[in-house]
Amino acid sequence: INIAVFASGNGSNFQAIYEAVKHQRLDANISLVVCDRPGAQVIARAEKVGIPVFSFSAKDYESKSAYEEDLLIKLREHRVQLVVLAGYMRIVGETLLEAFPGGIVNIHPSLLPSFPGKDAVEQAVAAGVKVTGVTVHYVDEGVDTGPIIAQQSVSIREGESIEAVTKRIHEVEHAIYPKILQKVIHRHLSILN
Ligand code: GRF
Repeated sequence: INIAVFASGNGSNFQAIYEAVKHQRLDANISLVVCDRPGAQVIARAEKVGIPVFSFSAKDYESKSAYEEDLLIKLREHRVQLVVLAGYMRIVGETLLEAFPGGIVNIHPSLLPSFPGKDAVEQAVAAGVKVTGVTVHYVDEGVDTGPIIAQQSVSIREGESIEAVTKRIHEVEHAIYPKILQKVIHRHLSILN
């Protein structure tokens, strides 16, 4: 299956997915990386391993549907069958949702439906919860609202900093996202075929 990984920043989840593909733990081909922040670290990571990158600036377009139409052309050129969001900081619009029904997956650093949106780890620490975690879910038109595929809890220790919790959440993300994607891909392939 051909997948595209969408990311806006560091790309550590992209890296984890790439390593899983390379070591045959994930039956996928990353045919494209999409990035909405020219200069983001994920671009250098993808280029280093020879994966094509499409980067764009939303401000160069009139609307979300305008840049998503452009994205769609690239996704079709690269024969993408499943879209994997990994730190993509934009809300997916109807252009992409309609082109990939049931075919867009996201990872979010909280136990949804708690703490959707930006700064989920900060929100959890500020709320004083003792347990937060990671959610992998299908993407719908809302913000972090689609059907949940899998979750893993991460406990917050007494007095722990946002940075420390974030680090542990990332470790869990890198461990579980490739594993869950492997299941999603096989499920999705049986739907596509
Ligand atoms: C991750 O915590 C992910 O859950 C969130 O954004 C972060 C991306 O990190 N949506 P990275 O760019 O993969 O390092």
